[in-house]
Amino acid sequence: MTGAERGRGRWWRPRSLRTQLLLWLITLHVFAAVLTAWFSFLAYGNLVHNALDDQMRLVAESYAGGDQMKTPRQMDGETAFSRGSFVVQIWSADGATLRASSWSALSVPLQPHAGFSDVSTGAHAQSNWRVFTAEPGPRADQPRVQVLQNEDYRRRRALRRALLEGLPIALLLPVALLILWLIVSAASRSLRAVARDVASQDERSPTELSLARVPDEIAPLVGAFNNLLARVRSAFATQRRFVQDAAHELRTPMAAIGLQIENLRAHVPAGEATERFNQLEAGVTRAQHLIEQLLHLSRQDAPAQRSAAGERVDIEVLLRESVSQLMVLADARRVDIGFEGRTAAVVVFAPAAELRSVFDNLIDNALRYAPEGGVVDVRLHTVDGHAVVDVLDNGPGIPQAAMGRVFDRFFRVPGAAAGGSGLGLAIARTAAERHGLRIELRNRDDGPGLMARVHLPVLPA
Ligand SMILES: Nc1ncnc2c1ncn2[C@@H]1O[C@H](COP(=O)(O)OP(=O)(O)O)[C@@H](O)[C@H]1O
Ligand SMILES: [Mg+2]
Repeated sequence: MTGAERGRGRWWRPRSLRTQLLLWLITLHVFAAVLTAWFSFLAYGNLVHNALDDQMRLVAESYAGGDQMKTPRQMDGETAFSRGSFVVQIWSADGATLRASSWSALSVPLQPHAGFSDVSTGAHAQSNWRVFTAEPGPRADQPRVQVLQNEDYRRRRALRRALLEGLPIALLLPVALLILWLIVSAASRSLRAVARDVASQDERSPTELSLARVPDEIAPLVGAFNNLLARVRSAFATQRRFVQDAAHELRTPMAAIGLQIENLRAHVPAGEATERFNQLEAGVTRAQHLIEQLLHLSRQDAPAQRSAAGERVDIEVLLRESVSQLMVLADARRVDIGFEGRTAAVVVFAPAAELRSVFDNLIDNALRYAPEGGVVDVRLHTVDGHAVVDVLDNGPGIPQAAMGRVFDRFFRVPGAAAGGSGLGLAIARTAAERHGLRIELRNRDDGPGLMARVHLPVLPA
């Protein structure tokens, strides 16, 4: 599945683990910060409130206590609001007249009840005041004292403190996000490494994935995958063994049948029987060829084959051998096969048998699909400075639609001349790819026929 097919998930449940974790972390931090601030606002607010109340009472008592009433120190409204300074009022004994006040502009009357009260006044843009009204003195003519403090100042102070408490958590958020991001990145890096491991697996002999750099949480997945790989591997091995055994077991009786047919030939009466007999013989030859190809294929699939030792192979010598060995087939079909090599030696490092299977299969095809009496050319030359081998025939070529499939196992172009198994090109390509060769098939543009070109990885001289 590609990322686009999977979609991004709903916004509150994103597909990405990282985004999910980030969202949760942000929510959690914001929640914790708000909660801390709220608690501190309540707790600290309470503390400040009580402490300031006590101070107010002390100030009031300090004024009321002496016989000689002090005059409160003058201040401006600004100090009352911004610094929370106490405003002291001295009232006449009956509470009717304000004798003195540290800020006379404040119009809060003497409260009827002694003690603490909260008063709101419309003047000064709706301000709230905490008020302490002292008890009346023992003498009837004693002046009354009242102390006031701006309530908003108190709330502001608690709020500032609360915000300060929440700040560390808010500051921690980016750090936590960064750490989380790094951890998740590292984890997804190791996941990507595992994915790369999986991607680079050879489907015919998958190897175990390393658990070394995998996080513990993902280890079970990788373990299970390794388990699956082991089973796939053993299934492949079983299948390969079966094909190999079956082909091997079929070879002997087939060879025997071939011999019997040869012996029978002398006894076949002329006429229709000969025609039938020839068909029978061709069928047996074809079966023998198929068995050989199957055997070859199963050997090619075996992992041990991978380590087949390479050697320095002179391609010209190899091609001459291949052509001369296939001369029998060319003669049978009266095909004119020619080899053209350039003078400079071309050397490839690979097992000779594997290289032979590449060229044998291509030349075999050319000889089979060229018409009776046709022409096949094998050329070793350079194109754009690179060494190539061209195998050209004058057969029907391959329809463009089938071009992409001719390398598939058992695929034969519908209507192709009888005698093939559909395995030749698959075998050739596997061998070629394993040793850095590349096969390119192209219909000739200078007439009918196919050109099979093999690009060679030439060793530096
Ligand atoms: N030189 C060629 N000319 C025309 N068709 C070819 C040629 N080589 C291969 N093909 C087509 O590709 C198919 C696959 O080739 P191959 O894998 O060698 O199997 P086969 O055993 O049939 O030759 C053949 O069946 C044939 O249809
Ligand atoms: Mg073939």
